[in-house]
Amino acid sequence: MSNKAKLIIGDNSYEFPLIKGTENEVAINVKTLRGATNGVITIDPGYKNTGSCESAITFLDGEKGILRYRGYSIEELANKADFLEVSYALIFGDLPNNEQLAKFKEDIKENSLVDDDVRKILEAFPKNAHPMGVLSSLTSALTAFNPAFVNISSEEDMYNAVVRILGKFPILVGWTMRKKKGLHLNYGSKSLSYVENLMYLMFKHPNEDFQMNPIIKRALDKLLILHADHEQNCSTSTVRIVGSSHAGLFASLSAGISALWGPLHGGANQAVLEMLEAIKADGGDTKKYMAKAKDKNDPFRLMGFGHRVYKNFDPRAKIIKAAADEVLNDLGIDDPILEIARGLEKEALNDPYFVDRKLYPNVDFYSGIIYRAMGIPVEMFTVMFALGRLPGWIAQWKEMRLKNEPIGRPRQIYTGENLRPFTELENR
Ligand code: ACO
Repeated sequence: MSNKAKLIIGDNSYEFPLIKGTENEVAINVKTLRGATNGVITIDPGYKNTGSCESAITFLDGEKGILRYRGYSIEELANKADFLEVSYALIFGDLPNNEQLAKFKEDIKENSLVDDDVRKILEAFPKNAHPMGVLSSLTSALTAFNPAFVNISSEEDMYNAVVRILGKFPILVGWTMRKKKGLHLNYGSKSLSYVENLMYLMFKHPNEDFQMNPIIKRALDKLLILHADHEQNCSTSTVRIVGSSHAGLFASLSAGISALWGPLHGGANQAVLEMLEAIKADGGDTKKYMAKAKDKNDPFRLMGFGHRVYKNFDPRAKIIKAAADEVLNDLGIDDPILEIARGLEKEALNDPYFVDRKLYPNVDFYSGIIYRAMGIPVEMFTVMFALGRLPGWIAQWKEMRLKNEPIGRPRQIYTGENLRPFTELENR
């Protein structure tokens, strides 16, 4: 294949270089297009065909259902590593050796406190506030409490900011949930691992000893790993574009949390559970809801199905489905919601509407079922996703800053009024 693409506009022909990735993905580099053509740009709503960057972090092949972080397969990582090992690999490029991992974990523990005034901010929120709004605000507030970590560019400052946010974020997650449940705000314990500490922060009740359930611990570790990165999705692109203005890491992450909140993105895990509950309350008639999903006059969509990139089984959904079975069996939970989910999946996988459009269950279809079995409230599901995605957002932000990428600033094609005279208010 030639390493150039030819574009013909009217009588003129232009050549643009092709870029090839390590997995042979090809892009046309149109960096010089506007200058060379006297103003012509590309337009691609939703960026369905537009690469925003070159990145060495995550590879996914949506046609084949492949997902790899830093070259390691998601299946191996989910089964063999823990969340902080995966976080290290995402952020620093390779899996850590013993020494690197021990230091990373220790540094995170050293940062696992938040200023007690953060508690006052949390207290000002109404109890029924959505946890994602609260989490986004608290993350943004960390900027004010850690001003030295706002505009950072050296690798050392970045390392310090990384261990800081990884140390503090589980506290924000735990407190967000405790506030909702009316529980006192606690601190974790340095003697616990990262995921154990998260469970302690979320589930420790003041009047009983904390019981660690190893099945839940392993499932939670796995869920966090599966959510840890997914290349240039909506929230990650948000983190990169906000960070490209040299806004600090915490502000960029806060923006990413807001992007993740929406039901077409991370909010889908909450939407899936609410959908399954609604189907159950309506008598469990999955066929009725399949028909609604296919009806173009009905805004209903089968939540947890379809993906912008995967046109095959989401590899994460396969792992989560197996984990859901394991957790529910081990905990002895017989959840009718799971039956409805299995029924919908079976019907969709055999329905030409879904087959033709390559709509398969995505990562969120089964994750909510596990979270529910763990005793996590539905409104907290997307918060769990945010915690999982944290290392991915950090890695992408760090990559973007270290490469000194230009500020993200798309162009547009204007379709509004042409110049017209101003009409005085009294004459309008
Ligand atoms: N239910 C019914 N029909 C669907 C669904 C669905 N869940 N998803 C897509 N379609 C249909 C569309 O109506 C469209 O049909 P048409 O070609 O006849 O018009 C076709 O499939 C293509 O859909 P698009 O919306 O163009 O696909 P896009 O790539 O823009 O959207 C998205 C992907 C947003 C994930 C979509 O599939 C969706 O809304 N799914 C439900 C929400 C969800 O589960 N989101 C989580 C995604 S995973 C994540 O963010 C972690």
